[in-house]
Amino acid sequence: MKVCVVGGGGREHALAHVLGRTSEVVRTRTDPGGIDADLYVIGPEQPLVEGLADRLRREGRSVFGPGADGARLEGSKVWMKQVLEEAGVPTARHGAFDEVEPAVGFLRSLAGPYVVKTDGLAAGKGVLVTDSVEEAVEDLRAKLSGASFGDAGRTVVIEEGLRGPELSLLAVCDGRRAVPLAPARDHKRLGEGDAGPNTGGMGAYSPVAEAGPELVEEVMERAVEPTLAALQRLGVDYRGVLYAGLMLTAEGPKVLEYNVRFGDPEAQVVLPRYAGDLAALLAQAASGHLTAEPTFTDEACVTVVLAAGGYPASPRTGDVISGVDEAESVEGVTVFHAGAERGPYGRLLTSGGRVLDVTALGPDVPEARRRAYRAVAHISFLGMQYRGDIAATAVER
Ligand code: AMP
Ligand code: GLY
Repeated sequence: MKVCVVGGGGREHALAHVLGRTSEVVRTRTDPGGIDADLYVIGPEQPLVEGLADRLRREGRSVFGPGADGARLEGSKVWMKQVLEEAGVPTARHGAFDEVEPAVGFLRSLAGPYVVKTDGLAAGKGVLVTDSVEEAVEDLRAKLSGASFGDAGRTVVIEEGLRGPELSLLAVCDGRRAVPLAPARDHKRLGEGDAGPNTGGMGAYSPVAEAGPELVEEVMERAVEPTLAALQRLGVDYRGVLYAGLMLTAEGPKVLEYNVRFGDPEAQVVLPRYAGDLAALLAQAASGHLTAEPTFTDEACVTVVLAAGGYPASPRTGDVISGVDEAESVEGVTVFHAGAERGPYGRLLTSGGRVLDVTALGPDVPEARRRAYRAVAHISFLGMQYRGDIAATAVER
């Protein structure tokens, strides 16, 4: 089978790497245009929201990734919340607003922490979580005026803040049936100890000890399956990944958000553990006839994101990266390229916020983590930032 992976980030590098075990893979950063393939796997949310999957399907191609109708789950948090309500899925108390006064009123009726989200896409950066009402009010003014996130912020969702560890559960869907992949945990904040602003994700690990088969089943039964059924009732034939971002609260798991694609960097730790033929699984889902049951190895996987100086606000680019080959000589390590590209003289240069995903497989999380950080120590570029505590709490347990 020939598979075309659309997207130029670390997630797509990981997808191509694992699909390449069983298939011929071509990659394209942008529109696949004239590329002929048996299956198209669309990585990022933006082209999905813009209807790339619909267009390819109209051309008679087999596509893994929802159409624009289903991708609205990620493209509009307001709509996502409506679908969650319609499906009866546990989520945070919330309201949607496009004017300041009622938004402030609702905010003040909540106990805190306070959460302010842009309705539209913001590359994982449109969410503020704070204990300060004043900061929340200031943030929602900036969002509603268009000052901070342009049109994406002109409607906001305000939520009660939930507490608990987070979990990412990605399910592969064929329109009617959904099967879970191995759970993963992402570290969203920029700084160690979960300090600083939200980012697209600074590292991840899988498996997650407290997310055993019972929890996965509970999330499938209470969240993913009812959501897929609600989408079906709305006439949406959802073929792709439904990614549930969960908070494991004292009252059970609640959905913080849905994404309509593989997580980044969750894909980098989930997919390398896949024990079957990933291309076959995604092709089945794309065809609407998913019969395979995903299986995973007992190995653990940890990825540490190396981010550019200035990320997430204003990442610097064009810096020379060294040490990637040495890093990959560490046992079990693969370095996925996210915001990195070849410049003059074949040098690898930084070209985006999240630059490299240093990823290690190992017999368990502690060993995978040791390998990942051993590899990180070989790599350097000006302004490089990373967290030293990825998967640390998993190791302490
Ligand atoms: P989202 O894009 O909706 O997943 O939000 C990004 C991140 O913000 C999540 O991974 C959480 O860390 C945090 N977050 C979102 N919603 C809430 C909430 N209701 N309570 C606490 N934290 C939240
Ligand atoms: N890692 C979070 C995301 O992919 O949205």
